This record gives sequence, structure tokens and C-alpha cells, in this order.
Amino acid sequence: MTSASQIKTVKIAYFSGTGSTARVADTFENELNRRGLPVTKSQIRGRNLYSDEKEDLLILLFAVHAFNAPRIVYQWIDSLPGAKKIPVAVISVSGGGEITPNTACRLSSIRRLERKNYRVVYEKMIVMPSNWVMKTDDGLAIRLLDVLPSKVKLIVDDLLERVVRRTRPKLIDRVFSRIGEMEKTGARFFGRNLRVNAKCNSCGWCAKNCSADNIIMLDNKPTFGEKCILCLKCIYGCPKQAIEAGTLKFIVLKEGYDLKEGYDLKALEKRMQGVHPALVEDLAKGYIWKGVKEYLLED
Ligand SMILES: Cc1cc2nc3c(=O)[nH]c(=O)nc-3n(C[C@H](O)[C@H](O)[C@H](O)COP(=O)(O)O)c2cc1C
Repeated sequence: MTSASQIKTVKIAYFSGTGSTARVADTFENELNRRGLPVTKSQIRGRNLYSDEKEDLLILLFAVHAFNAPRIVYQWIDSLPGAKKIPVAVISVSGGGEITPNTACRLSSIRRLERKNYRVVYEKMIVMPSNWVMKTDDGLAIRLLDVLPSKVKLIVDDLLERVVRRTRPKLIDRVFSRIGEMEKTGARFFGRNLRVNAKCNSCGWCAKNCSADNIIMLDNKPTFGEKCILCLKCIYGCPKQAIEAGTLKFIVLKEGYDLKEGYDLKALEKRMQGVHPALVEDLAKGYIWKGVKEYLLED
């Protein structure tokens, strides 16, 4: 077993659509660097499959999509060459937290990693502001950003002290997670129906930044293929807001992410400067926000 003192190199691999998981990955990198550990950090993208580095610890982070990891994460794991029991921490990043129906969201990724001979030693859910269906209240959102460094610090403490943390998904959530895999087919459908409106100035931002390499410029217009993973990056990130959902419009937030100014998380931080948010208990009411409340109030 790799001991704490033997951890000399850490690899962080992350998938992020709209920037939250990228923020979490940066926070891990800063915390590890602060402790003198060199980190190789790479974003999981369509054309960026595994590079064969020999790390002592792999930290895999992904945005939760429909109670699972996005398809691109599975493809990435399947592309791994296989590891001799390299320890892995699997960190999921969601808007809802560790509640039903989310608790089995890491399971398929873990099974795939174990098939590749990785040793999954740690699991944890990080909660970030939601980027779909229901917007997180600004007060809760800023609390989530404020608490992130200390959450990451605790995880890094655990990892370096070789604390093993595996969770047991609820049976009902295993079922939800299976059903949620249908989102992958829905994502292709969503992608096929994306539309470009008259505001498009053919800048090519979407084609350059698509997480799944699903957008190409044809006759100077974005053209959408069959590989969409529904990460919403193109819709929120388009500098002209020229990309619209043709189906499942309800999942796109009206006051959505604005990636062109950096991540909207920065805009949120600016907006909330000097504002004292209400108590978590008052902000996170109802089952939908139960996981966020528990996350913010846990020790
Ligand atoms: C297609 C899609 C499905 C999602 N499914 C879930 C979910 O099942 N549970 C949840 O808590 N959050 C869900 N979310 C919210 C994201 O997990 C959350 O906003 C995450 O922080 C996004 O990370 P990113 O900004 O790195 O892409 C979903 C988001 C998208 C776009």
C-alpha cells in the first residue's frame, strides 16, 4: 500500500461543463501545492484521453449528471492503460448533495476504475451551485464557495493520513442511477436539437471549447454532431448567447452561467461581496435543498 510519505506525485483528472468542478480541481491543486506536493492536473475532454503518467495518487473529479458521471468520464476511465493498485479518490460535484437520488452517482465510475485495477480508497460529494433546472439561491451559493477550501483541506488531510472512506449507496439510488443512464441517450438528442440564432457571429468559441468535441464550424456556422454530453458549456459560454436548446429547455437556467467573463462563480463572488447571507436553515428549505443544508452544516 502506498503510504502517506510515499505520495510524491498526485494526478488530478476532472470533468467540468460549466466551471464548478474546475474550481474544485483548482482548490485541490492549491491545497496539495501548499503542502509541497507536485500535481499534474488535466481536464477530461473529447480529444484529451489518458496520458501515461505514474502518479502515487489519482484524484478523479466529475460533475454529477442525472445521478451518474457524464459519458465522457466513463470513456476516459475505459481509456486508462490499467494501474497496479494506484489509490484513487473519486470526488463527485453536484448541485444537490449526497441525498436520494444522488448517492449512487460514483458507483459506475468506481466499478470501471476497479476493473482497471485501481484501488478506490476515498469517495466524497462536493456541493456547488446548481447549473441546471433549479438555480441555487445566491446566499447558499456563496456559502458553498466560502466553505470549499476547508472541505478540500479536510479531504487532503484524510488522503495523506490514509483514511479510507467508502460510502454505501442506497438501493433506491442504484435504481435511480440505472434509470439516469438514459440521460446519455437524451444528451445526444439534446445536442442534435441545439440551435444557433441570428446573434451568432461565427467566432467559433463553441467549437473550440465543446467538452465532447461535438461542434464543428461548417460554412462558418456551428454544426452539432452526435456526441453531446449535455454539459451546457456551449449554451452558457457562447459570447453572443447565440446557442439555444431545441428540446428540454427547462433544464437551462435563465440567469445561467456566463462563462465569457471567466466563470460565473467569479461574478457571484463580486455580487455577494459585503453581503451577509441568511442562515443556512432559512435558505435551504424543503427536500430539494436538504443535501446542500446537510453539506453546509456537517462537521
Ligand atoms: C445534464 C445535467 C444533469 C445534472 N444532474 C444532476 C443530478 O442528478 N444531481 C445533482 O445534484 N446535480 C445535477 N446537476 C447539476 C450539476 O451536477 C452541478 O451543477 C455541477 O456543479 C456542475 O458542474 P460543472 O459546472 O463542473 O459542470 C446536473 C447538471 C446537468 C447539466
